[in-house]
Amino acid sequence: MLDLSLPEFLELSVSDKLPYVGTKAILYAQQFSRTDLDEFNELADTCRKIFKSPAGADFLGRLLPHRICLNFFVQPSSRTFLSFSAAQAILGMKRMSLRDMNISSISKGESLEDSIRTFISYVDLVVMRHFDNHAAATAFWVAGKAHRRVAIGGQEQPVPIVSGGSGTRQHPTQALLDIYTLSKSFEDRGGIDGKKIMLVGDLKRGRTVRSLSYLMKNYDGVQLYFAAPEEYQMNEDILSFLDEHNIPYEKLRSITEGLADVDAVYMTRIQDEWDTVKHDSHPPANSNFVFHRDHLKLMKPNAYLLHPLPKRDEIEVEVDYCDDSRVVYWRQERNGMWMRVAIIATLFDCVDRIRAYDQAHS
Ligand code: CP
Repeated sequence: MLDLSLPEFLELSVSDKLPYVGTKAILYAQQFSRTDLDEFNELADTCRKIFKSPAGADFLGRLLPHRICLNFFVQPSSRTFLSFSAAQAILGMKRMSLRDMNISSISKGESLEDSIRTFISYVDLVVMRHFDNHAAATAFWVAGKAHRRVAIGGQEQPVPIVSGGSGTRQHPTQALLDIYTLSKSFEDRGGIDGKKIMLVGDLKRGRTVRSLSYLMKNYDGVQLYFAAPEEYQMNEDILSFLDEHNIPYEKLRSITEGLADVDAVYMTRIQDEWDTVKHDSHPPANSNFVFHRDHLKLMKPNAYLLHPLPKRDEIEVEVDYCDDSRVVYWRQERNGMWMRVAIIATLFDCVDRIRAYDQAHS
């Protein structure tokens, strides 16, 4: 990367960027293989198990107390910000956050490049959410070019950059936790391979559904269904990616068209924060794409209902409290924290120590 300018790097296609990104940062869902996903899932489970005992929680908390991280979130977030913060606390990291551009020197006109270069002078990890599609890639380039290095696993490396959502295109760690949730849901049915998954809502601007679609390249026999009003249907770039990877998909005009047949329903809200015309209130979901309590009766007994959250009116409130074990979006949130523990532990070369602790104490 040292030979590329920032514009040259940003102009590369994602597949051309991947060799530069390697495994030292998390920017794109496409960077992960099936082995990576299986290892993340297993590590998340292991950390979760270890944390159940006070001694295990102490062990995890002693892994990274010498590391400082910055959570740089200049777009609204509850669960990504909090679950990363909680994951960092579990691993004993020291944490700082910057969430409001108005109280940082960005408000004085400082460029993103200069801001990132400043941040990495002080911290060993940057987790970031930004409205710009290229923000995480820009931060990665700056970290690679800057002189500061952190020693991880005996190697001097650029400060790791983790995207917690970049523009409308990518939310890779959400996709990892979604895969973890789907894998756990289907663990008695052969995992995600061969499953039919329906994605519902604003698929055009939903970075979670886009990143999740990319990860489906790692599973055999998956079929995707895109249930969305025409104006929110999945973008051509994702459809081309699915074609390239021989992943069949079908567009649906309502939830009910696919409900009885699928193994998972993944709801999303209208992403109206990207609307160019601002409204006084959030637009209502199209009624063909609202999940009602009665829809649970149409779902297979072993199908699951997911949502990356936050949600609005696209799921009827009664579904939250209906005590149906197929409704897994609250578990999905909690899974996010454990997946983020696994992500950070992997970036900081803690995996062998965690496995050794688990083996010694099982
Ligand atoms: N799923 C998700 O990214 O939620 P937040 O926007 O609350 O972080």
